[in-house]
Amino acid sequence: MTGSLGRGLTPYGLRCDHRAEPLGVDEPAPLLSWRLASGRRGDAPAGLRVRVRADDGAPVWDTGAVADPSAVSVRYRGPALRPRTRYRWTVTVTDAAGAASREESWFETGMLSPAAWSAVWITHDPSVQDVMDAPEEGELALADHGLQPAVRLRKAFEAAAAPVAARLYVTARGLYETRLNGARVGDAELAPGWTDYRDRVDYQVYDVTDLVRTGANMLAATVADGWWSGFAGFDERRAGAHYGTFPQLLAELHLVHADGSADVVATGDDWQSARSPFRYADLLKGECHDLRRETPGWDLPSGGRDGAGWRPAWVAATDRSRLTASVAPPVRAVRELPARSVARVSGDRFLVDFGQNFAGRVRLTARGLTPGGRVVVRHGEALDEAGALYTANLRTADATDVLIAGEDAEAVFEPRFTYHGFRYAEVTGLSSLAAADVTGVVLHSDTPWAGDFTCSDPDVDRLHQAISWGQRSNFVSVPTDCPQRDERLGWLADAQVFLPTACLNADVAAFFDGWLREVRGAQSPDGAFGNVAPKIAGVADEGAPGWGDAGVLVPWHLYRVYGDERFLERNLDAMCAWVDHVHRHNPDLVWTRRTGPHFADWLAPAPTPRDVLATAYFARSAALTARAAEILGADEAAARYGALAAHVRKTFAERFVSPDGRVSGDTQTAYLLALAFELLPGELVPGAVRRLAELVEEAGPGLTTGFLGVGLIAPVLDAHGRADLAHALLRRTDPPSWLYPLRHGATTVWERWDGYTPERGFQAAAMNSFNHYALGSVGEWLYRGVAGLDQAPGSAGYRDLLIRPRPGGLTEASARYESVRGLVSTAWTRRDGVFDLRVAVPPGATATVHIPTDDPGGVRESGIPVADAPGVSVAGTARRELRCRTGSGEYRFTAPLQ
Ligand code: BGC
Repeated sequence: MTGSLGRGLTPYGLRCDHRAEPLGVDEPAPLLSWRLASGRRGDAPAGLRVRVRADDGAPVWDTGAVADPSAVSVRYRGPALRPRTRYRWTVTVTDAAGAASREESWFETGMLSPAAWSAVWITHDPSVQDVMDAPEEGELALADHGLQPAVRLRKAFEAAAAPVAARLYVTARGLYETRLNGARVGDAELAPGWTDYRDRVDYQVYDVTDLVRTGANMLAATVADGWWSGFAGFDERRAGAHYGTFPQLLAELHLVHADGSADVVATGDDWQSARSPFRYADLLKGECHDLRRETPGWDLPSGGRDGAGWRPAWVAATDRSRLTASVAPPVRAVRELPARSVARVSGDRFLVDFGQNFAGRVRLTARGLTPGGRVVVRHGEALDEAGALYTANLRTADATDVLIAGEDAEAVFEPRFTYHGFRYAEVTGLSSLAAADVTGVVLHSDTPWAGDFTCSDPDVDRLHQAISWGQRSNFVSVPTDCPQRDERLGWLADAQVFLPTACLNADVAAFFDGWLREVRGAQSPDGAFGNVAPKIAGVADEGAPGWGDAGVLVPWHLYRVYGDERFLERNLDAMCAWVDHVHRHNPDLVWTRRTGPHFADWLAPAPTPRDVLATAYFARSAALTARAAEILGADEAAARYGALAAHVRKTFAERFVSPDGRVSGDTQTAYLLALAFELLPGELVPGAVRRLAELVEEAGPGLTTGFLGVGLIAPVLDAHGRADLAHALLRRTDPPSWLYPLRHGATTVWERWDGYTPERGFQAAAMNSFNHYALGSVGEWLYRGVAGLDQAPGSAGYRDLLIRPRPGGLTEASARYESVRGLVSTAWTRRDGVFDLRVAVPPGATATVHIPTDDPGGVRESGIPVADAPGVSVAGTARRELRCRTGSGEYRFTAPLQ
């Protein structure tokens, strides 16, 4: 959604806890927020009022006149919210002339308390053996892997009258898909998503009012292993190694009648269960759907024909204490990719190219099937030298889906309970396959897309696209390192370094709010954050430098982007505990002990000394913890961590920095950390910058950073006057560089700078993902640097913008970003000696605009000399730059520039 120009001040994009019209809010004091648009320059709200009403219109809470009329959110402070209740709310914004503009939205509470549930966990009695358990010839290692069939559950019920509202509150230990009278409920995929189920199980809420009928109804579900009891990560153990052993469902359907009374249909021993025709369904191994065992109508009120082997459902557990409403957006099938080509490889084997590496699955229409015939779909990111599907880098993830044909000669096959990371699919078992019969279904957490970037260099645009696809492919319930091999873990450093880029591409506030629960949940009693979240067996528990620190860096960055102090409130104790943990074990302030599995500057061509890197992160985490405490008014903590940060900084300088500004290790990353984290005494900064620039120049100009240095290199060079070098790196095409993979067929960012080279072929298959976003963290600088769309260092929630384009050798660039305050955009061109810069600043915000020019006196705004332009004041000149301050609105600066 974008602001409506030409109109007066208008709120839009209303959100509750960063979600539009959410069902199932368990937060007692949700955040109500909106964005602002206005077609008038300098518009800023003069009045603000938020009112919350019950669904019937009765007043519940009224802010009255809000003290800060330019605020774009308020926290609900009214009487305790009632469970399972819809609230309507309005925001009224008044402009300086007294004209009011009002927008309305709603949110609906969830169960609010685990005690409100009456449902229990049900499944199919795992001790009952039936025909599904017998392995079949050619079965994909069913017995070897211990894979098990998904389970079906159902309950027939009567509705005396059509309810005025019906809601399904549902979750699974495993993955669920629910159906009501034969129709699928909702569009969430891979629900309820991945959490450390031992601590938290998310539930979701669906409005099913339109699906309930008067008379006979059938509520039905299929549950599969998922992260709960399937394979997860690189640990080859399943079945209880991580969380649980067999999938289970917990659901309550609430039928609300006109008089306010409700009937509840809850999972219990009065349900029926059966093995499903999904002989197995596993996130890593793939899914097998046996159509011979489908019993059409099983989910209809009639119950369909017999043959499924229905039995009374088995109550697996009654504990509901860990249920919480999910706060993150669900995974959805977000878009579809047509097959770019389909080629017959041999007899019944076809190779499909979707032209894009992504996470999701294949939907295909299979024709000419014979009963019992198998269609097998394998997935891969690349082709080998012989042009065949390359799967060695998937390690033990078989990523193979199987359809076993039933009576019908034609069937549509789309797996339900798995996903893969791939560009190519190999389909076996069909006599023909047309491109129109195959579709790539793209799955990811449905974070609303919020930003876009483009510039005059098509290679850089392609890089931005590849980075964005890396984000789509790896934000699947939690932020993962990669979507294809037997890993797909919520590695903390990957998320931390990519977060600034992610926040500009999409609104990830709710997504990361959910993930941070997992980060906190994985913290050890000693205060150590983990290396991955959700926590999982097989990964060392204590966070490495840069990995564990994500527990501090992520909430801090989210606060800055979204201006929501709850990111700090909810995490401050955990942040303090982490810094205390590092401090306690390293009283000399050089972080050498308790470094977890110290991954250093992961995959860096030039290794940075571990103590340098760790101590830099120690200082950074202490400093940000102090800032967070200060913002929350926790003065004692702010002073304590502030002093600690100063001491660590001093120790860093004494220990690792020579009098001419050289940092131990003398690597790019060593300087980047020292400069980005402000660890150097002012007088040593110029020397350090010079040395960093030399190292970049000596390398080509080129990069020698790994995961921890890569996101810093362009911003740091830019911040210290070397945007020219940042541009040189950006546009370099030899390895290591961002454009090199794109020259060699990449459509997503690779894990390694040299994942494939024509000279050597593929990097070692043991670790060679072609869809890893960490090295794509340069994406942030495309927005902030190249296009110049940024906020001032002290600003949160884009209240004070910093517009500072870095044209380099480009002739144009533009970026748009839906901030929490409203649309921010920049667009510049450089043509015929004129630099032309358009800027949009949302209402209530201010901006400092840096205009590159050779002649500050010749700068105009909308054709008027800038000194006379309304709403603009000249703030100063620097080397080849004029600085202006503006209020909100649209501005167009033109400036002489060779
Ligand atoms: C993952 C990384 C992760 C790393 C830890 C790798 O296997 O793919 O992205 O951060 O391990 O060093």
